[in-house]
Amino acid sequence: MSFPIGAKLIGVGSAVPVNVVTNADIEKLVDTSDEWIKTRTGISQRYVVKDDETAAGLATEAARDAIAFAGIDPTLIDLIIVATSTPDNLYPSTACMVQAQIGAKNAAAFDLEAACTGIIYALSVAQQFIATGMNKTVLVVGVDIHSRFLNWEDRNTCILFGDGAGAFIVQASDENEILATYLRADGSGGHLLSIPNYGTMFPHEGTTQPEASHGFLHMNGKAIYEFAVNAVPEAVRTTCVKAGIEVADIDFMVPHQANQRIIKSAAEKLGLKPEQIVSNVAEYGNTSAASIPIAFSDAVKSGQVKPSSLMVLVGFGGGLTWGAAVLKWTATDKRSKTTGTKS
Ligand SMILES: CC(C)(COP(=O)(O)OP(=O)(O)OC[C@H]1O[C@@H](n2cnc3c(N)ncnc32)[C@H](O)[C@@H]1OP(=O)(O)O)[C@@H](O)C(=O)NCCC(=O)NCCS
Repeated sequence: MSFPIGAKLIGVGSAVPVNVVTNADIEKLVDTSDEWIKTRTGISQRYVVKDDETAAGLATEAARDAIAFAGIDPTLIDLIIVATSTPDNLYPSTACMVQAQIGAKNAAAFDLEAACTGIIYALSVAQQFIATGMNKTVLVVGVDIHSRFLNWEDRNTCILFGDGAGAFIVQASDENEILATYLRADGSGGHLLSIPNYGTMFPHEGTTQPEASHGFLHMNGKAIYEFAVNAVPEAVRTTCVKAGIEVADIDFMVPHQANQRIIKSAAEKLGLKPEQIVSNVAEYGNTSAASIPIAFSDAVKSGQVKPSSLMVLVGFGGGLTWGAAVLKWTATDKRSKTTGTKS
């Protein structure tokens, strides 16, 4: 694909709550075991917010990490897109709260909701705004706090999710490095993964207790599993065709971190080796819209992914939605090595 104005990633960052919830902690809440959770999902622990932590707070921390990586002044940012399905409020948007907190006084800001695929959607939207000349420097954040919408008595769902935020800085460039993006949706499968009871279909009933108006996350695990193991390879293959490359040209795949079995199955179908897969689901669980940038950020900071790598980022989730992005990663951390650590 060719674009009137090119775009590239110049920064990546992440943030998670301090509080760790291990599988042993969950054993105390529901009838499950560390062994079952690890075998079926690959997850060992996840980070979960405490009472005073917010989506905007985590998003701001991840944004600051990415801004420091890129070595830019926040006033350079002219658009902020926050992908989230668990915003702090219906409005103000989480993006506007981040804009104020990082001092990005020249930026427009809006939220985008495409569940766990949100970060891929947001990256694609950022590229389109850059390609048309509308914006030059875009902050893209994925943040989710699913722990507030989990039924901690439902072992089918409460074992899977963690909270967190991840961010990218996308900038206009003479050399286009976001080679292709691909976005899909199938609303007929919306009931398979949903948080009902949080919109205008379910108006507030006069209580001031948030719990009373919040719905729980509902999921048909088997159906989502089947959807994911097909959607991921399809999205990767299609996006590679759009980018004019072969799957075999890919150096690393950063998949949505939902379940290690889904990741492994997709990698095998695509013929990618285990060392080409970025996976941190064991440590974080499924952090929804944040999972891809958190995994990307960790892989860059650990040295697994080095500059000049050809990457495919691939997501799937509620909606149903799925999609992928093929890009070159050439950025280096503008901080000194002593301060450029994982946040
Ligand atoms: C949820 C998931 C881990 C379940 O794994 P699975 O191998 O499909 O397990 P099943 O649904 O077949 O359940 C097997 C049994 O384990 C039980 N089980 C479910 N959760 C359990 C838990 N946490 N601990 C112990 N047993 C559990 C089930 O009740 C079932 O028992 P039954 O056979 O007596 O009915 C898996 O389907 C999955 O990961 N799906 C995708 C979910 C996802 O990615 N969602 C987010 C998308 S963005």
